[in-house]
Formats: sequence, structure tokens, C-alpha cells
Amino acid sequence: MRRPDIFKKCIDYTRADEVKQMGLYPYFKPLSGQVGPVMMIENHRVIMLGSNNYLGLTNNPEVMARSAEAIKRYGTGCTGSRFLNGTLDLHIELEEKLAGFLQRERVLTFSTGYQTNLGAISALCQKDDLILVDRSVHASIIDGTRLSYARVVKYHHNDMEHLEHLLEREQDPAIIITDGVFSMEGDLADLPTIAKLARKHGARLMVDDAHGVGVMGAHGRGTPEYFDCERDVDLHVGTFSKSFACIGGFAAGSDKVIDFMQHEARSEIFSASLPPAAVATVMAALEILQRQPELMVQMHKAAERARGGLRSMGFNVGNSEAPIVPIIIGDTLTTFRVWQALDQGGVFTNPVVSPAVPPDRAMLRTSYMATHTDEMIDSALEVFEKVGRRFGLIP
Ligand SMILES: Cc1ncc(COP(=O)(O)O)c(C=O)c1O
Repeated sequence: MRRPDIFKKCIDYTRADEVKQMGLYPYFKPLSGQVGPVMMIENHRVIMLGSNNYLGLTNNPEVMARSAEAIKRYGTGCTGSRFLNGTLDLHIELEEKLAGFLQRERVLTFSTGYQTNLGAISALCQKDDLILVDRSVHASIIDGTRLSYARVVKYHHNDMEHLEHLLEREQDPAIIITDGVFSMEGDLADLPTIAKLARKHGARLMVDDAHGVGVMGAHGRGTPEYFDCERDVDLHVGTFSKSFACIGGFAAGSDKVIDFMQHEARSEIFSASLPPAAVATVMAALEILQRQPELMVQMHKAAERARGGLRSMGFNVGNSEAPIVPIIIGDTLTTFRVWQALDQGGVFTNPVVSPAVPPDRAMLRTSYMATHTDEMIDSALEVFEKVGRRFGLIP
């Protein structure tokens, strides 16, 4: 008998083509020009509401100059892992500065936020350990749990009774893992209660603050600062691909835990280190954040203007509290149609459909940055209103 072809699934795959044939395919669109609050997409101008560039630093002249200087000084890449030939004095400097900023004993950087979660979770959680994870966490956390040999139990989204029930039921060494700001809907984890439960039941707590650091808390130290529970968070991880305007990730915690991770996290050891330009970008962004916390105020103001406007028009914006504001639509094809109408009206949003969200909760994810002006937000709101009426999303 002939062996079945492992590529059959690819040959039979038609889902994307079907959407393309309808003229509704919204992904992999080439944007051009500098990454900022207004961009060009396929020769038309759009207000960018699909970026995680929260502090608007991707095209900040000081940040760009520091990045270019680092290339001149160090070259373009390290061509090796941190473990071997890929550690520059610049990596160490950034880790020390981040540890100071986040008020942690030590920080370890990774080459992406995704790899941070893979490496941290798979190193720390081993056979006979238990991971309790919020059902709505980012895919990189789920993938990290799959790479680990630990047992994984999901608790209902932000459901503290369910979490407590699981903690009472299960007695293995445990870690609770949650996003600080949930990446799709911009709602916040109930960190004070999670921290209390972790303490009461002797579990460790890891918070992925990809959308929290540089965004939440008076100094931008993220959701633990915002909720005043920093000491209760054992491991604070995040990314440089959002408020830090670049790429990369970090894990911040105690000396012992970070030392262990540095020697055991496979995504750190078996992958090349952050290139010098990226490290310098993050360092410059961190300095600007510390010097100009008003950028966070501007970002929240832009988000609040948009959220308030959308809500008062009657859109379903969920429980968003951060500069991520979802427009929950429900049906996937309608979401693509609304995306297209907004794009044609000059507003770029991110369509989010299953499996990133439950199949009946397709949405447009919008997000805001310090460099969005009131005029930009108001123009976008006008387009939302017209399109929302046309599709019957609002009265
Ligand atoms: C909560 C969360 N964690 C991790 C990541 C992965 O980060 P990166 O894109 O920097 O790899 C993301 C990215 O969207 C995220 O939203």
C-alpha cells in the first residue's frame, strides 16, 4: 500500500483561497513607510489602529539614531546564542538597566517575546509540576506549556472561584500563569486576587506583561505596579515588540530563577541573541519611558477617547481597560467585510478570528499609541460610525 502523503493537508488546504476569492482576505498586507500612527497600505493612507507601538517610539529620531550607532559600533548581528558567542556588553547593560527599572534582582533577555514564554515555561515546569493557566492567555504561553512536561489545567477566564477550586483540588508544585493585560480584548487579569490565592496555596505566579510594561502603572512597570502587587509576582515576563518599539523579550525575577533559566531555557540556548541594533533600540526606548512618563498619559488619553467614542455609538467593546479596544462582531465573514470597509475608509484594524478567539467572538482589535492625535482618533471614529451603521453593528 502506498504511504499517505504528509503534505496532503497542505494540498487540500483551501480556507485562505476561499476568502481571497471573495476579495476579503485581510492578512499579510504590505504596509510601507515608517511605522507610525499614519501609514500607507497598497497606495492609500490609513490611520494605524492595528499596532502595538504604544509609546509611538518606532520612528522616534533618538531611538533610530541609537539603533544606527549600535550597528556602526557592533555590526549587524551576533550570529550565535547568548550562551556561547552571542553575549555583548550591550546585552548585559540592558539586562542590568531593566532589572533596575523593574525592581527585580535579575533580568534575562530573549530574542522574541514568544521565545521568552517557550523558554521560561518549559525550563521551569517539569514532570510532576502543575501549570494553572487562564484560558485566554497568549498562544506563546500555551505553546510553552505544551513544550514542558508539566500537567496543564486551564481555568475559566479571570474566574477566581474556578482557580481557587483547582488550587484546593491539586497538590503538586504549581505555577499560575496569566497575561497581565489580555492581548486580544485589553482586559486586565485580577492580579490582586490571583496573588492572594497563589500565596495562600503556596503556588508561584508568572505574569506575561507583553501589553503591560511601558503601558500600565505610574512608572510603566506594568500590571503588578498598577495593582500594587509587585512583590507577589514571582516571574514577570514581557516583550520588546510593543512599547519598546522593536523585537525581543525578557524575564525578570529572582537571581536563582533567572540563573536557572539562563542555563536551562532551550529557546535561549539554542537560538541566536538579539542583534545590537535591537538592544540599543530597547535601551533608548527604556530611557525615554523613564524620562517621559507623559507618553503613557498621552497613549491612555488616545485610547480613552476612542473607547468612549466607540462605546457611546453602541459598539461592543468588551471590558477593555488598556490601550487595546476590541470591537466584538461575532461572525468571521462579517468581521472581514467590516475590516475591508474600514480599510477603504482609511482606518487599519486587526481582524481577529478563531482560533485566536472563540469561533463566535470574531472581532476587530484596535490599539492606540501616544502619537495618535485627537484629530486622528476623531477621523477614525467618523469612519467607524459610518461603517458600523452600514453593517448594523450599531443603531
Ligand atoms: C501576551 C503576549 N505574550 C507574548 C507575545 C509574543 O511576543 P513577540 O511578538 O514579541 O514574540 C505577544 C505578542 O503578541 C503577546 O501579546
